[in-house]
Amino acid sequence: VTTPAPTTDDTLQVAIIVGSTRPGRQADSVARWVNGLAAGRDRASFEVVDVADFELPLLDEDLPRMAAQYARPHTHRWATTIERFDAFVLVTPEYNHSPSAALKNALDYLYAEWNDKAVAFVSYGIDGGIRAV
Ligand SMILES: Cc1cc2nc3c(=O)[nH]c(=O)nc-3n(C[C@H](O)[C@H](O)[C@H](O)COP(=O)(O)O)c2cc1C
Repeated sequence: VTTPAPTTDDTLQVAIIVGSTRPGRQADSVARWVNGLAAGRDRASFEVVDVADFELPLLDEDLPRMAAQYARPHTHRWATTIERFDAFVLVTPEYNHSPSAALKNALDYLYAEWNDKAVAFVSYGIDGGIRAV
């Protein structure tokens, strides 16, 4: 049985999100490693998206995220990027038995752009990262 070549329409667009903004972080290498593993998959296209590139301050939008009326340029940029994807791999370190604040803050900026999409997690830490997800 041969698998038909994927068309643009049925190729899942997956973002691998780098969830640490710490100087000297390991997250970008972990994300690149995930991307390398993912490259062998068909019917899906993978792209690394780095939270650090968006320079998001702690949430500074006044309306609830469900309103999807964003006042800040950084939110528009983040929303425009995230809405393009069908699924996400969230790469997060474990910080104090939790995911990183940078990733949680980036998640909390948006609402509709995440809805009805698939998500997977890759976590790591000195103790295995299991409490980060
Ligand atoms: C503030 C802080 C808290 C941490 N808390 C944990 C923890 O609870 N469990 C753990 O296994 N590792 C913990 N670590 C270790 C990190 O998971 C590890 O250094 C990891 O490389 C951090 O990810 P990053 O380099 O991508 O920022 C912590 C590190 C930092 C900086």
